[in-house]
Amino acid sequence: MRLLSRILWLLFALLIIAVAVVLYYVANPRLPFYTPVDQVHYLDQWSADERQTYYFTPQGTQVKGLRYEWFTALELPFSQQRFASPEYLARFGFLVDPAQKASPANPGNLPVGFARHQNAGSKEQFLDITCAACHTGELHYKGQAIRIDGGSAQHVLPSSVPTLRGGSFGQALVASLASTYYNPWKFERFARQVLGQDYDAHHEELRKTFKVSLDTFLRTAWNDTHRGLYPTEEGPGRTDAFGRIANASFGDAISPANYRVANAPVDYPQLWDIWTFDWVQWNGSAQQPMARNVGEALGVGATLSFFDAQGNPLQGDARYPSSVRVRDLNKIEETLQLLKPPAWPEALLGAVDKPLAAKGRALFAENCAGCHVPKVIQGPDRPVQQLHMLPVQVMGTDPGTANNIADHRFDLTSLGWDPAELAKLEVQLHPTPTEPLDLSQVSVAKGLAYVTAFVENRAYRDAGVTPAERPALDGFGLPIGVRELRAYKARPLAGVWATPPFLHNGSVPTIYQLLSPQDERATRFYKGSFEYDPRHLGYRTEEFTNGFLFDTRITGNHNSGHEFRAGERGNGVIGRLLQPEERWALLEYLKVLGGPLESQL
Ligand code: HEC
Ligand code: HEC
Repeated sequence: MRLLSRILWLLFALLIIAVAVVLYYVANPRLPFYTPVDQVHYLDQWSADERQTYYFTPQGTQVKGLRYEWFTALELPFSQQRFASPEYLARFGFLVDPAQKASPANPGNLPVGFARHQNAGSKEQFLDITCAACHTGELHYKGQAIRIDGGSAQHVLPSSVPTLRGGSFGQALVASLASTYYNPWKFERFARQVLGQDYDAHHEELRKTFKVSLDTFLRTAWNDTHRGLYPTEEGPGRTDAFGRIANASFGDAISPANYRVANAPVDYPQLWDIWTFDWVQWNGSAQQPMARNVGEALGVGATLSFFDAQGNPLQGDARYPSSVRVRDLNKIEETLQLLKPPAWPEALLGAVDKPLAAKGRALFAENCAGCHVPKVIQGPDRPVQQLHMLPVQVMGTDPGTANNIADHRFDLTSLGWDPAELAKLEVQLHPTPTEPLDLSQVSVAKGLAYVTAFVENRAYRDAGVTPAERPALDGFGLPIGVRELRAYKARPLAGVWATPPFLHNGSVPTIYQLLSPQDERATRFYKGSFEYDPRHLGYRTEEFTNGFLFDTRITGNHNSGHEFRAGERGNGVIGRLLQPEERWALLEYLKVLGGPLESQL
């Protein structure tokens, strides 16, 4: 008996140690180190005021109910260092400027894109992740940083699935929330910081609301993990945008039967000139700026109710209240229309070899312009660039995201939509369907179009938007167009040198590799470094402490296609082999394309 009980005790002790070790690793993420740069250099893309507007105008998203002042008061699990200190948040790839100070727009002195909002009729200030968090880039070179406004972010924001490595934002945040809740000393410090003089009156209540937010995080992590919704690790700079929006809007908010595996993360695209594109998104699926932004906000955590308190679907004018802020979204959109592409900063990255760039210009006309230079027509209120859409079989790049968007279906019957009502919305399906829509099998793009149309109408009404104002807020009076092509768009390439990594799934680290045959591209490389390689035009990819190893053999990560190779065209080969000296010339030209230096060639 004694032996048995000893063995049991021993096993129990081992189990506790094992759990403690796992918890320690889960709560103590292995993040890259933060090395402050000497100076952040801003290019001539925007004025300083426009930049502040873009960085900190909220859009109406919430991070699972997290209050702004909670976020700024949180400590790390194993120390009293603040979670939201710029030096710590920078380790997740968020952008900070060593010279930045708290400002009226950014009272918590947080990184780019960390805003706050207050809903009408409420006193609470919510942490609000806004566009700039995902659509701002930075390149580091020789201790200097070059901020790329509207560029491509490299953070690890969206992942909701815990890993032992622990390098994602959500997981680290949950570890801080949980230790604050369960460690009484920590909670006391936290509550005194948040409540100040109101500590005695309100700390019990704070504990309750705090727990609600923590539970929401834990539920999401458990849900997404045990269902295996995100098997391809997104790593820095990517998210499966459509997959996550669909799982949030149709899975979390309607029925677990609507969860779909989202295994095709995409890179954050750059936003200069997008207001002139006829269609946006990597697969060219969206048309109206406001509806696109509303859909994105819902995916990033804007609140939305489909059902009343009894669980009945909301009908008529009761559809659909949300926390989306249409006037702020419009302000951001108008600011984006003023954004210039970044111009190659010769003083920081080296002089452009103009004769070589001129050779590149000729090669570009021969090999690239057919796809990357769209036809431009003058619309009534904007120039419209009609982008070329290339089928996935032609491009040969990873087909995952285009196929998922085309193939996944969702059952939305419980929303009680009436086809006659849907017909009155601003939604335009392309091609025009010949059959009535089957609400038990709606695609993500169509489902989202109708949801955003309802949300938009309601939000406009609540914000007092008049019919006369509406076309401008929608964006150039555009309808909510929807397409689901198995294709990717060939975007104009001004400023593309500043937006590594490349392709829609970020699978090719430099433009030099993109212009090389696939067998010359890196199969595995490290991501998450901001160190720029001005020769090959991309991020550096050598191993560094706690870097993310990106493996192009994993589903969704393939680096095939867009190949220039000798032999037959097709299957992803889109052009002849480019000799190394031709690649260098093209790279030199891409530095100046669409910028002030181009006219000097
Ligand atoms: C959580 C990160 C995130 C936030 C926040 C975010 N976006 Fe995006 N955005 C993405 C991703 C990822 C894509 C690519 C999705 C795709 O095409 O599959 C995208 C695509 C776009 C596109 C299409 C670009 C193109 O090349 O076609 C535009 C325009 C855009 N976003 C604007 C905005 C605006 C404006 C906001 C704020 C109102 C915003 N985004 C907020 C991640 C984000
Ligand atoms: C047959 C049409 C076609 C030709 C020719 C072509 N491209 Fe592309 N290009 C595309 C498409 C489509 C994409 C997007 C593919 C994807 O993301 O999967 C793309 C993507 C790119 C990107 C990455 C953009 C980003 O934001 O990640 C760069 C850079 C690029 N092309 C450069 C070139 C250069 C330089 C040439 C000429 C040497 C060229 N392309 C020729 C169609 C083409």
